[in-house]
Amino acid sequence: MCGIVGYIGTKNAKNILLNGLEKLEYRGYDSAGIALLGETLNITKVKGRIAALREKMEDEAFGTLGIGHTRWATHGVPSEENAHPHESASGRFTIVHNGVIENYQELKETYLQDVPFKSETDTEVIVQLMDKMSQTTQDTVTAFRQTIQLLQGSYAIGLLDNEDVDTLYVAKNKSPLLVGIGNGFNVIASDAMATLKETDQYVEIHDEEIVLLHKDSIVMMDVEGSVIEREPYTAELDMQDIEKGTYAHFMLKEIDEQPFVIRKIIQAYQNSDGQLEMSQDIRNTMQEADRIHIIASGTSYHAGLVGKQFIETLASIPVEVHIASEFAYHTPLLSENPLFIFISQSGETADARAVLTKVKKRGFNTITLTNVPGSTLSRESNHTLQLHAGPEIAVASTKAYTAQIAVLALLAVDTAREKGVQLDFDLLQELAIAASVIETLTEQKDKIEELAKTFLNTTRNAFFIGRGIDYYVCSEGALKLKEISYIQAEGFAGGELKHGTIALIEEDTPVIALATQKAVNHPIRSNVQEVVSRGAKALTISMEGMEQTGDALVLPAVHEILTPLISVVPLQLLAYYAALHRGCDVDKPRNLAKSVTVE
Ligand code: AGP
Repeated sequence: MCGIVGYIGTKNAKNILLNGLEKLEYRGYDSAGIALLGETLNITKVKGRIAALREKMEDEAFGTLGIGHTRWATHGVPSEENAHPHESASGRFTIVHNGVIENYQELKETYLQDVPFKSETDTEVIVQLMDKMSQTTQDTVTAFRQTIQLLQGSYAIGLLDNEDVDTLYVAKNKSPLLVGIGNGFNVIASDAMATLKETDQYVEIHDEEIVLLHKDSIVMMDVEGSVIEREPYTAELDMQDIEKGTYAHFMLKEIDEQPFVIRKIIQAYQNSDGQLEMSQDIRNTMQEADRIHIIASGTSYHAGLVGKQFIETLASIPVEVHIASEFAYHTPLLSENPLFIFISQSGETADARAVLTKVKKRGFNTITLTNVPGSTLSRESNHTLQLHAGPEIAVASTKAYTAQIAVLALLAVDTAREKGVQLDFDLLQELAIAASVIETLTEQKDKIEELAKTFLNTTRNAFFIGRGIDYYVCSEGALKLKEISYIQAEGFAGGELKHGTIALIEEDTPVIALATQKAVNHPIRSNVQEVVSRGAKALTISMEGMEQTGDALVLPAVHEILTPLISVVPLQLLAYYAALHRGCDVDKPRNLAKSVTVE
């Protein structure tokens, strides 16, 4: 969701900003813009893609100081007027902003009644306030601090003063933003990926901090003006991780990376004797919990449902899984020692963060499972379990989901062992087998592509059915399909269909069934018969030992608790090929953002 890049140095910032914004495209956006400050100020904006912005930027556009932005509309429609950067009425200040200013109406009414606004955005309030504040003080830093102190809500801000070509003004609260340190230049970015080509040295900005960037120095301070010192760190990102290479889409690359991710997780969570090991802090936290609440959204929520099954079955701790946006407003009755586990690929999801803030105030223990070390949820939780999936760029989450399942399985097994439960399998070995099985599935792309063409090329809707853990994977399969192919898709518990949804089954309605669980193989097969008798086209995916004539795919067998790692792969590939053949923008589906930083 929204991305920011900024540069101050000696080169023309234009291409650095355009390249940076391209790297942030994955976050989801609907308009973009760049401001360059040199001898003059040059602002270019477009509704649509960065490619159009690149085309529109004049050849002579030059500035050694610049800010760029991708906008995902919240306040005001996607349009050129609402795209950032925004200028103040006097034309002196120019701003890019991510986040939501919750008190923008109040600020407008209190301070800016006489100011003509050009856009419908909450952002414009900030830049107009800068104009106001600078009328009563000569000092831009003071005006900036005064403005920031008035804001309520979330913000990552890059601001230019066209009377000062030597400073980029920066502030942050709740929205992600980093400072990148270069030799003779400095940059800001929502994500290190955007500026990795320029530098691998970064400094974190914490909430309610202000930074003044000059080409040779940075000054960090709190909103009161007290200077803060913080050491830089090296971003452990490889350019290869954030490039598509020979792949047509990031989604396909990330599906193929899943075996590698699982192997990386095995390495990360084993000790020198090759035994599963978690930190003692995490172990203690799990043992103390009398009930666990998993909080997550979208794909991460679906992983949470699988995690509940693992923890309850293996470690016998009761688990509730909550949609983050619901929990924030409808808190259930809590036990004496609840533990909150947040699952978030990005670690920035605002819905989860709202819950984290709430439960922290009550002093409860928290663990975050995330793919982004140093992300907001990771920083603000008591403990973090890393997913080690590497950057996930496609909006549709694939490798992060399998990483979440693998780490949740490890957490459940470790907790069970610590409780003295004797388990008759070695999870690390079983995960290694699962990784190899995923590899064999990713080699069956042609077959799965054919199935996608036969079942999903022209349909308006599709249903996914499964029982037990298969039902949770079906929910994930349906989400994958709907978000990138725009086919209306739903996952259902097989037995629930006849209580209503079966009314929607028509001639040739695709029904994708998962049959990987021995205990429910018979009933799910009956559910398939029920829909077939009403005209549905069934595509059944089963597992060795449970296969029947007519199954479209038979997956190699893995340990029963790890079946979600395997069964989700053909569903991811079906969604990918369905979207591809329907001409959809696979990596950047409409209306969606990768990192959902607004509630
Ligand atoms: C998955 O494909 C999604 N695009 C989306 O549902 C995502 O899982 C959700 O927004 C949660 O994101 P997070 O894991 O970064 O918190």
